[in-house]
Amino acid sequence: MLGKATAALLSLGTLAQAVAVPQDNASATTSARVPNATSGPGRYVPSEADLASGCANIGRVASSFVRTSASQSATSFQVDAKIAYDCLASIPLEREATLEFLTELSKFVQFQSTIAYLARPPANSGQDPMDIVGGLTDIASSVESGSITSWNELETRVDALLSGCHEGHLYVAWPLPSLINFRAPFSLLDLSADGKQASQVYVADDVRATSPQFRPSAITHIDGEDVVTAIERLTYYESSQSPDTRWNAAFQSQNPPKLGSFYTRTRYPGTNTFTLTFENGTTTEYRYTAFALHQPGSNIWSVLTSGEVIWDRIINVDPNQPSGSNSGANRLRTRALEDFRKRKLHNDQLDETFRRLEKRQSRSNAPPPPEQLVRYNASFPDTPRVRPYIQDINQVFGGYFMEDYTRDDSRTAIIDITGFAPDDPNARFPTHAVQAAVELFLAEAERRGMQRLIVDVRGNGGGYVNMGYDLYKQLFPDSDPYSGTRIRYHPASLRIAQAFTELISQDVIDTLIRAIGRGMGENLTVAQANAYQVAAYASLSGLNQFLNLDKDGKQFRTFNDFFGPKNIYDDQFTNILTYDLNNLIAVGDLSYDVTGYDDRASYRNRPPPFTPENIILVTDGVCASTCGIFAEFLRNQQRVRTVVVGGRPNGEPSAAIGGTRGTQVIQHNAHMLNFVQIVENNFNPTSSAEREEWDRIFPRPFKLNIAEAAVNWKDNIRRTDPTQTPLQFYLEAADCRLYYTPQTLTLSHELWGQVDRLAWGNETSCAVGSIKNATVVTGDSNGVPISIGSDQGTGFNSGYGDTPQFTGDKIIDTGKIIWYGVRNSLGAAGGRRGY
Ligand SMILES: *[C@@H]1O[C@H](CO)[C@@H](O)[C@H](O)[C@H]1NC(C)=O
Ligand SMILES: *[C@@H]1O[C@H](CO)[C@@H](O)[C@H](O)[C@H]1NC(C)=O
Ligand SMILES: *[C@@H]1O[C@H](CO)[C@@H](O)[C@H](O)[C@H]1NC(C)=O
Ligand SMILES: *[C@@H]1O[C@H](CO)[C@@H](O)[C@H](O)[C@H]1NC(C)=O
Ligand SMILES: *[C@@H]1O[C@H](CO)[C@@H](O)[C@H](O)[C@H]1NC(C)=O
Ligand SMILES: *[C@@H]1O[C@H](CO)[C@@H](O)[C@H](O)[C@H]1NC(C)=O
Ligand SMILES: *[C@@H]1O[C@H](CO)[C@@H](O)[C@H](O)[C@H]1NC(C)=O
Repeated sequence: MLGKATAALLSLGTLAQAVAVPQDNASATTSARVPNATSGPGRYVPSEADLASGCANIGRVASSFVRTSASQSATSFQVDAKIAYDCLASIPLEREATLEFLTELSKFVQFQSTIAYLARPPANSGQDPMDIVGGLTDIASSVESGSITSWNELETRVDALLSGCHEGHLYVAWPLPSLINFRAPFSLLDLSADGKQASQVYVADDVRATSPQFRPSAITHIDGEDVVTAIERLTYYESSQSPDTRWNAAFQSQNPPKLGSFYTRTRYPGTNTFTLTFENGTTTEYRYTAFALHQPGSNIWSVLTSGEVIWDRIINVDPNQPSGSNSGANRLRTRALEDFRKRKLHNDQLDETFRRLEKRQSRSNAPPPPEQLVRYNASFPDTPRVRPYIQDINQVFGGYFMEDYTRDDSRTAIIDITGFAPDDPNARFPTHAVQAAVELFLAEAERRGMQRLIVDVRGNGGGYVNMGYDLYKQLFPDSDPYSGTRIRYHPASLRIAQAFTELISQDVIDTLIRAIGRGMGENLTVAQANAYQVAAYASLSGLNQFLNLDKDGKQFRTFNDFFGPKNIYDDQFTNILTYDLNNLIAVGDLSYDVTGYDDRASYRNRPPPFTPENIILVTDGVCASTCGIFAEFLRNQQRVRTVVVGGRPNGEPSAAIGGTRGTQVIQHNAHMLNFVQIVENNFNPTSSAEREEWDRIFPRPFKLNIAEAAVNWKDNIRRTDPTQTPLQFYLEAADCRLYYTPQTLTLSHELWGQVDRLAWGNETSCAVGSIKNATVVTGDSNGVPISIGSDQGTGFNSGYGDTPQFTGDKIIDTGKIIWYGVRNSLGAAGGRRGY
């Protein structure tokens, strides 16, 4: 994952209570939504001369770099952090173009499903109030009044606003972090001696160098500030709702393989140097460095000699104007998109759908037989010392048997799945390959008489929704997974829903399904193939009456039954929608059926390979998006117990699922603009007033070189929750919390061994809670989920233990804090702003 540390981090308040200090006057130098600094290092402010020379200084480094052999393949080169920031800070912005972009962005963010919840977060959600539209309005006013004149500052402030929402599906893929980014000289590790005592923070190189002569000393302060506060400050802008999950983002890990956001800084750290103070009393100063974009074969910095040139050639470039696909601006956009794709918080399903349809003539889309989609006993990136019995060819899923490496009679099997999608966007048959590997693995587990299963989803930020459903259905073939979703009401979504429902009627759907038959669209006429493409967008959007089922799995009788809108939390939403897994247009992948449906319906009759009490879900809190959907099935429908690793060293309960629970991301360029285009290609406004309304409500292309933007489109709502609150606003404690030890951090099988002993062996207590003595609480007596810190009655007992649920004593009452922007733009009653 990319670090999302930003310069504005350094102006954050003390976050020990996860409660931000409100600011009286938001027109200070930091974002209106960003709490004031109460401590932390000073900021480096370049002089006029520094600003004037920054980019040219990078150019000087570049001109010697291009003469080295490394320049033939490297995609970046190292420069001094100071000159890198001097250059970034010298990039100007043009007021009109920037305001137009902000207007388009504020049109688009209104599709963020949780906008009302973010402005007025429920108590105990761990979320500070963030008024997205109000915040963008403030930033636009600052541009208008001339108090923001730097493009880097604009990116940083909008980023702080969106990142403060801790919603992994909400982002802008900006150009500057791909042009210049920053690094600390080393990674940090967060380690405990036994996994139960609170962890301490170390320099990674020190831990590696540990020997009888050298014992590393823990870090006590960063820049003179207590290390815990400093790391909380650093990770405040990470995308997870849980502060413990955000904490984990700072550190290096092996599974998932990452260097951590202390090391990888997306944005300028605020200073050119920093100090660490160690327990042994030593204080040492270190330098940050920067990396500037390099395109092998050219020297872009011979052109980008000033901030003005970067604005003209890189930022103020309309992506829709032809300018040669090799232009620096285009390549930067591609790179920014790749950086975001790696985080897997996107939706590949549509690309896959179209790829298959395009290849339908050549038949090259026929999936190979299962044996060609898996590998046995091959190395796997997450686990350097042990090899999985089986993995899919794209290295998404690893299936292990403990007995293969412990050489004892262990009956424990392990599934390791770091994402529900491969890193490589061109990977072959990603969903089929995982389906095949899981199926072959479970068959072998049965043959060997395995009784227990550990499912390790550390680092799993989601991916293909179908892959998450399929893994659940292979584990529980006869269970109907329930995920109730809904979309925020917006006049544009209403118009799109009307259009999609009219264009893709039940009749069109039936005809397409007949014409596709058991094939992959090879016999579709051109008109049908076109209809299929529209149907694919309609399906992805969720805005079609006939491609959704209601909360009871039945067809909607009328458009209004489907769309609503319904008033909830002073906002408006569609009715609850569920996934029609038997409808191949709704599932969206012609050659793939989720286990238990359609061609794989007969799997329903198979017995579950493991009983729920013999399954443990292991997370590091990151679990988001598709992983959040999968985890909800395991935990809420099967009462599977959970273990969470890492987090702040506070000895308190911590959430197992700490990332967004939203079930779908919608991108501005890849999705929304296509929805709008389909409406406008097929329908005409009936009056000039309607024409104007469409321009006001429909998102339009960005005219600056922004690679992409995205919102969370659908909420996940637990069936038993009468308040219908999106699940990420509940932070439900894991049954058992552990910290990492040097062994369990670097060697996954050591962690699995500890979990195995805690669940089924002779080890009893975790750092917090216990696996053996756990009550899987999935809500209060009304079924309302219970957050950490809530003071509610007892939950219901799943029968695995006899203890009441955790009751933390820290009550985080964010409801008391109303920031100035929230008050101004939403009003005390929280009314919606105009569109
Ligand atoms: C905020 O501070 C600025 C400058 O100090 C001042 O001009 C402005 O009136 C203040 N705004 C509010 C809302 O207090
Ligand atoms: C916010 O920061 C400014 C500048 O550092 C300082 O003058 C002011 O007192 C701070 N306000 C609060 C509420 O801490
Ligand atoms: C103190 O600990 C740090 C970190 O392990 C180490 O780099 C440094 O050499 C130690 N200082 C002394 C005086 O031992
Ligand atoms: C897996 O491969 C390793 C290394 O090649 C080998 O030592 C081991 O015996 C193999 N295990 C099995 C079960 O084939
Ligand atoms: C496509 O058409 C051919 C020729 O009519 C037929 O043999 C084949 O079965 C059809 N495929 C499907 C999936 O219906
Ligand atoms: C727990 O069992 C393991 C072997 O399974 C053994 O090595 C260890 O000593 C035992 N620990 C205790 C506290 O009994
Ligand atoms: C389970 O936890 C409860 C409450 O902490 C305690 O009283 C009980 O002894 C525990 N049971 C076991 C088997 O550890």
